[in-house]
Amino acid sequence: MNTICSYTAAAVLLIVVTFAIAEGDSRRGQELYESRCIACHSVDQNRVGPAHQGVYGRRAGRAPGYEYSNALKKTKVVWSDKTLDSWLSNPEKTIPGQKMGYSVSEASDRADLIEYLKKISSK
Ligand code: HEC
Repeated sequence: MNTICSYTAAAVLLIVVTFAIAEGDSRRGQELYESRCIACHSVDQNRVGPAHQGVYGRRAGRAPGYEYSNALKKTKVVWSDKTLDSWLSNPEKTIPGQKMGYSVSEASDRADLIEYLKKISSK
């Protein structure tokens, strides 16, 4: 009986941990954003790259007043968990002809960054 209980507890713990990782951590995402993205981006101002406020759930290439590459102007990609994960791991493969020369190799870093982009877009 005790063994069954501890197996159940372990299984529940595993599910909770997996869920937490898959969901991403927006606080850690903010730290990553401030160290890796801020050279080119800001939340509310266009810089080398477009402003990110409202980006999650929006069609790519739509930050007001930013001069995008033709590739981003023409694409029909809408930013979601899946498309942002693909973009951050390999922008050129996701939307060929784009002009962001940066990528994020760690899946957990991407998940946290996406969580942060989601958070700043829901305000
Ligand atoms: C070296 C500069 C640079 C860095 C660093 C950089 N980006 Fe970009 N990013 C760009 C440029 C330039 C574009 C516009 C691409 C285009 O028009 O083809 C862009 C576009 C984007 C877009 C699409 C926005 C839209 O409105 O469609 C997202 C999302 C994005 N970047 C996320 C990030 C994140 C997250 C980071 C940090 C991990 C990051 N970028 C780091 C330069 C950069």
